[in-house]
Amino acid sequence: MYNILISDPLNQEGIEPLLKAKDVKVDIETGLKPEKLQQVISDYHALLVRSQTQVSADIINAGNNLKVIGRAGVGVDNIDLKAATQKGIMVLNAPEGNTISAAEHTFAMMMAVARNIPQAYKSLVGGEWNRKAFQGAELNRKVIGIIGLGRIGAEVAKRAKVFNMKVIAYDPFLTKERAAKLGIEKGELDEVIAAADFITVHTPLTQETKHLLNSEKLNKMKDGVRIINCARGGIINEDDLYDAIKDGKVAGAAIDVFENEPAVGHPLLTLPQVIATPHLGASTAEAQKNVAVDVSEGILKVLHDQPFRNI
Ligand code: NAD
Ligand code: MLT
Repeated sequence: MYNILISDPLNQEGIEPLLKAKDVKVDIETGLKPEKLQQVISDYHALLVRSQTQVSADIINAGNNLKVIGRAGVGVDNIDLKAATQKGIMVLNAPEGNTISAAEHTFAMMMAVARNIPQAYKSLVGGEWNRKAFQGAELNRKVIGIIGLGRIGAEVAKRAKVFNMKVIAYDPFLTKERAAKLGIEKGELDEVIAAADFITVHTPLTQETKHLLNSEKLNKMKDGVRIINCARGGIINEDDLYDAIKDGKVAGAAIDVFENEPAVGHPLLTLPQVIATPHLGASTAEAQKNVAVDVSEGILKVLHDQPFRNI
């Protein structure tokens, strides 16, 4: 028998592959304190998380029977990969299941920030009928700069083209052929940020991408640029973004992800030009089912010594 611990809320239908497996016992214990998780983890062969559980080196090192950690989603920044590798524990993620949801959320955020929809809604439910304060901007014929043209960036590009936007992307791994196939332009980072009316980031958070957009880069952008981050907090320097909005350089920002989450009370949230959601990019029924199925199937493969793909 294999014992599996699910320590974050996951889509029930998505974990059916695990629940149906004959040689598996699944415990669902969400909201465990790190010390408690560290105490119980040696009872388990697999740990399945979303993004809340911080799978630290202490937890990994206490996992004496742990063979695999599954992350129902893309980013694995909540898992200490080095500690897992050192202990010979596989780490699986589900890189594809939430691509469309994250791309759609990015687009929804871009449209909402372009037309001040959250601000206008707040004003109206507050008892005002103010048609002057919320004049927005069209997407039509505007330039969108996409930084990171992987799965989500490419889906955003496709949607932007349908809205008649000119798409220019920066990604060190983007080939001319792929850019041509997608009908977009490829540029260096500084070229992309100087040309764009809307800038959206879709890279992972790494040492190279941490604070990729900082005051130096913000100064090179067009006046009145609008910025969207539905990737990872920390890719944009939040203090520098705050200053650039205050100075009037940046007309608006749409932020789904923050450097430290939960980001309740964050200074950016005090600015009327900022719209935000609490890390909802992948929060659709479809995406949550997809990622839970993908990672559940992956975990079973690892436990049964079948071929699998790890990161
Ligand atoms: P992906 O791996 O398919 O694409 C990432 C792209 O970034 C790759 O093409 C890579 O070449 C590029 N890249 C890496 N370093 C770069 C750099 N320094 N400059 C420019 N490009 C660089 O990943 P994805 O599935 O498209 O996910 C993108 C991001 O979105 C990740 O950070 C992921 O965690 C995040 N995400 C967020 C949500 C959410 O809920 N908000 C949901 C899903 C994914
Ligand atoms: C991810 O990396 O997949 C996203 O941040 C979505 C999530 O799991 O919340």
